Amino acid sequence: MFATETSEEDPPTEAQPPAPALMESLKHPDRFVRRHIGPGDDDARRMLKELGYASLDALTDAAVPASIRLQRPLHLPDGRSEFGVLGELRSIAAKNRVFRSYIGMGYSDCITPPVIQRNIFENPGWYTQYTPYQAEISQGRLEMLLNFQTMVCDLTGLEIANASLLDEATAAAEAMMMCHRLNHEGGRNAFFVSRNCHPQNIEVVQTRAGALGVEIVVGDHDTFAFPAGFFGVLVQYPDTFGAIHDYRSFIERAHAAGTLVVVAADLLSLTLLKPPGEFGADVAVGSAQRFGVPVGYGGPHAAYFATRDTFKRQMPGRLVGVSKDSRGRPALRLSLGTREQHIRREKATSNICTAQALLANMAAAYAIYHGPQGLKQIARRVHFMTRILALGLQRLGYKPGQMPPVPDHTPTPDPSQERNLAGATPDWLPSPGGAGDGCALPCFDTLCVHLGSKRSADIIKTAESHRANLRVIDAATVGISLDETVTENDLAELLQIFNDDRAPAFTIKELAAGDQLDVPAEFVRQSKFLTHQVFNRYHSETEMLRYLKRLEARDLSLTTSMIPLGSCTMKLNATCEMLPVSWPEFSRIHPFAPLRQTQGYQVLFQQLEEWLAEITGFAAVSLQPNAGSQGEYAGLLVIRKYHESRGQSHRNVCLIPTSAHGTNPASAVMAGLKVVAVACDKEGNIDLADLRAKAEAHHDNLACLMITYPSTHGVFEESIQQICDLIHEFGGQVYLDGANLNAQVGLCRPADFGADACHLNLHKTFCIPHGGGGPGMGPIGVAEHLVGFLPGHPVVNLGGENPIGAVAAAPWGSASILPISWVYIAGMGAAGLTEATKVAILNANYIAKRLEKHFPTLYRGHGGLVAHECILDLRDFKSVTAEDVAKRLMDYGFHAPTLSWPVAGTLMVEPTESESRAELDRFCDAMIFIHGEIMAVESGRMDPQNNPLKNAPHTADMIAADNWNHPYPREQAAFPAPWLKEHKFWPAVGRIDNVYGDRNPVCTCAGMEAYSA
Ligand SMILES: Cc1ncc(COP(=O)(O)O)c(C=O)c1O
Repeated sequence: MFATETSEEDPPTEAQPPAPALMESLKHPDRFVRRHIGPGDDDARRMLKELGYASLDALTDAAVPASIRLQRPLHLPDGRSEFGVLGELRSIAAKNRVFRSYIGMGYSDCITPPVIQRNIFENPGWYTQYTPYQAEISQGRLEMLLNFQTMVCDLTGLEIANASLLDEATAAAEAMMMCHRLNHEGGRNAFFVSRNCHPQNIEVVQTRAGALGVEIVVGDHDTFAFPAGFFGVLVQYPDTFGAIHDYRSFIERAHAAGTLVVVAADLLSLTLLKPPGEFGADVAVGSAQRFGVPVGYGGPHAAYFATRDTFKRQMPGRLVGVSKDSRGRPALRLSLGTREQHIRREKATSNICTAQALLANMAAAYAIYHGPQGLKQIARRVHFMTRILALGLQRLGYKPGQMPPVPDHTPTPDPSQERNLAGATPDWLPSPGGAGDGCALPCFDTLCVHLGSKRSADIIKTAESHRANLRVIDAATVGISLDETVTENDLAELLQIFNDDRAPAFTIKELAAGDQLDVPAEFVRQSKFLTHQVFNRYHSETEMLRYLKRLEARDLSLTTSMIPLGSCTMKLNATCEMLPVSWPEFSRIHPFAPLRQTQGYQVLFQQLEEWLAEITGFAAVSLQPNAGSQGEYAGLLVIRKYHESRGQSHRNVCLIPTSAHGTNPASAVMAGLKVVAVACDKEGNIDLADLRAKAEAHHDNLACLMITYPSTHGVFEESIQQICDLIHEFGGQVYLDGANLNAQVGLCRPADFGADACHLNLHKTFCIPHGGGGPGMGPIGVAEHLVGFLPGHPVVNLGGENPIGAVAAAPWGSASILPISWVYIAGMGAAGLTEATKVAILNANYIAKRLEKHFPTLYRGHGGLVAHECILDLRDFKSVTAEDVAKRLMDYGFHAPTLSWPVAGTLMVEPTESESRAELDRFCDAMIFIHGEIMAVESGRMDPQNNPLKNAPHTADMIAADNWNHPYPREQAAFPAPWLKEHKFWPAVGRIDNVYGDRNPVCTCAGMEAYSA
């Protein structure tokens, strides 16, 4: 693209002569790289001139230490046009076969209302938002997340719910950890898990417990005797085989034994069934997937987590709460942040950072669109269909819903099996007596069917000939789960499958007419739910559309301006990358569908793994971790297992520089490691002397170092190889936090300079949008000696030979968003990706240079340059804080850079390669205008309190109010820069009072009415 660069699309090398011009002109002239990278050739040349470099290569050579540079181009395909890449992906997607899924196990097909699909899921106004840390310009998604929390509280019957977790299995593991924190006194260290939980829930909990030395007992909840030492229990409601249990006496026994109770519950069923909070649960967790979120071969979906109010300060994950703004009006913000890893680090309640905000918003929107009655009708219909199916199966001679089998939950799947949907081979228990005709046991949407003399394999074969998948429980038992997409024809087809592929002699209508039974009375939900206005007024599409648009307009996303958040890489999420996520070949596949039906996905995974391995230099990649935090945790477990395999399980010390992101120490603790902090020097580099001293002091027990590269201070540390060597010298491993990979792709590779494992935030460097706080993906790359320990899965055979166990519910994490990163890499090609890195460095240095007279850059590295981000130092100002500047930027139409992290009183700016020079200049102009305002305050020309910075942001109603008690004009308040006359983004609320919100936590919608009174 640039004159100084070699185009890899048609490299005129000696080995490969230039293609004849005629042939070249047959190729479409458009190239994706031109769409992805912001500055054009001329602009880049001008920027380079300002920096004093003759070419992009010269700047790169000066910024990146030669000792770590990759001396060859990446071995990746050439870049292409968007049209060309999508064409290839279509042919890959076509290898996936979309069968009707009746597998269940926590995943249900569902209907995404088109108004939600187009206006949230496929809408960059929603999906390109950042996590709502700057609450004044995030009120829309905060309101929808509050709706989500309210919905979860109401459906579960509990008092407080968070704003989503990553998946049901990790939510169950978080619940186990919370119970342990709350209830470990007296040496309680064991956790009981019902064997009738979904297999992936059991294994993820086991993996988590293993690292912490917690004992897990899997068994029958009916006969569990609560011996001493148990701090908590986990049961599934309805259970994985479909049975609805009356857990009341079990919970009474648990509480009598001083044990906390976690119930993993299906949200849709809770519209009909007594909610966990009403029968004594202390925590409820589960998935909100079937509330309109495509099943997507495993994710992304939002998990929920609800508990009692008294436990709120121990909850994991983000929590939206109501506070008030500068004018006393209700305003939303993330609350009780002091529980989280950003602040509490190794003492945090969890390592969760990126969660599943976009999907939580979709689930809340689904509940709003249907309302309580609509949801109930959907649930009733699913349940009615299930009963009809049970009656039909009974007429065919089966005993459906008879009794859950007893699985032996061996965590490792049998490698001879392609998949192992039961988790193990069950024995049959005698039936305790039925609940009437049809199902022997009460059930909601799932039937466990014993086939008598028939074999599961035969039924499965017949089902597949009808393009349908059932769950294999054992050689003569299958499971069938129904969902809202099931029709009368589907039921007829299912019965035909069980009738030796012949139409039965009765009809669905006849069966329906004969069914008198409903959910047994003891399970029927009596309490009302979702009575709030928001769940009862947007049922027409027009109303819903306007509500969604109203919320969207309150939030600043990439559709408005650059979001220059350091360490977050808010780059372009190209439309061509996003389109495939909605293709049914990716979105409508159950995570446990047979591998023979998911060949397209397998091709995509294999290519993506190979490409990411080439980009990082590692031997293998696991795509399972579904956020950066989960990648860190998985990578550290792999390292622990490696030490264990060498008889060195005592190695448990993890060195972490003080500049590290909060997830690092929180993940280390979750992986059972002891955190030892390493100092940084005044340049922001790791203090080598301190590192050596700490490594020496802990040489016997050193497990690893966690290091971010380039550092969170935005510089390429020259000593990185030395650092890695030092750790290896003391027997430790090097875990690299790959959040800053955007500064490395094509220039240097973590494995080459000595890292042993690393996670990659695909939602940063590889274009998955942030979704207002998730989804994300955090795959890990590992060196050869660690490959054998990569995460496994209880249902699908994958991972290393000696795996750490599952770290996420689905085998490939949030599989359906992987096409985004695939399109990015395939579209950019080796040269395009490398160019993107160089331009990211150019853009950051351009901003640092343009602002240096106003806001000095705190740390500089090699060549006096920064890497892909720069930290602006605001600490010398006496009367204005970095927060004031962050809020004032909103009046100029910008999202603030990262505020006060990793250094208090600073702003960390990461422009990314996708921003054009015009946008960078606009941002710099805004910062320079603001500098003028700061100077006016500092010099006493403006009031130290009543000034545009302290009063920022200014809302439309502040400007329009009759009272204007400020010594500066309204125009200066709201239109301080020329471009604002063309386009003005109005912050929805004034500056939010953080302290008030934390002192008076209100985390459900009901509070909004109270506050607005
Ligand atoms: C340096 C660094 N490490 C780790 C993380 C955690 O990643 P995630 O939010 O995907 O869990 C972040 C996220 O912002 C980060 O900036």
